[in-house]
Amino acid sequence: MTGTDDGSSADEVPTSGWPDADDGCACEGGDGGHRPSIYQNFYGDHRAEMERRDYAKALATIGGLTAIGSLVAPLSGLSKVFEREYTGPVYSDGVALVDGEGSRIEEGRLGEGEQLTVFPESHPGIERAPTLLVRFAEGEYGGETKSEFTVGGYAAYSKVCTHAGCMVADRDGTTLVCPCHSGRFDPLSGAMVTGGPPARSLPQLPITLSSDGYLLATGDFEGAVGPGGA
Ligand code: FES
Repeated sequence: MTGTDDGSSADEVPTSGWPDADDGCACEGGDGGHRPSIYQNFYGDHRAEMERRDYAKALATIGGLTAIGSLVAPLSGLSKVFEREYTGPVYSDGVALVDGEGSRIEEGRLGEGEQLTVFPESHPGIERAPTLLVRFAEGEYGGETKSEFTVGGYAAYSKVCTHAGCMVADRDGTTLVCPCHSGRFDPLSGAMVTGGPPARSLPQLPITLSSDGYLLATGDFEGAVGPGGA
């Protein structure tokens, strides 16, 4: 028996306070008496417990889906098809390259062999146009690379696959790889196609360094961005 502050026992069955039939009482018998069922609390608690469990299950399910979603979202983002209605110039002379946070790219930002997804500094009509900035030793470039479009070992190419518009997000050695259908591009040779279904190179962006050491475009991509185009 458990005592309470007012001296009553918590084990005592209350004699009043039960709901009556009009209140939807779970009473025994059909004799009109409003005798409280000894199962009322049990079933009431049981139902409440079931509801709590159902609620907990629902929350767990939602939580699980959210967790899966949080994993899937970034993965899908890697191969997300680039869509834009704007068809005018993406870059123009003097437009700065910026990272995902909007910070301009200093000359020393990348080491040889590194790459970074950059964008044109925001201006009307264009908010984000993913561009792959790569850096290699200047002497490694050749083939189809427009050397006059490179600066300080940096070259920039559209990140939008020319096959079906997925993001060219993977690397295999120096080769840029599109995860959708394994399109392969050589950044040391103008991002020419070296494997898979793409029919043309990733267009190269002409870049230079500003007087204060930040990467700038000197014009737009030298070819159409994404699928289609010549
Ligand atoms: S979309 Fe890149 S290989 Fe198909």
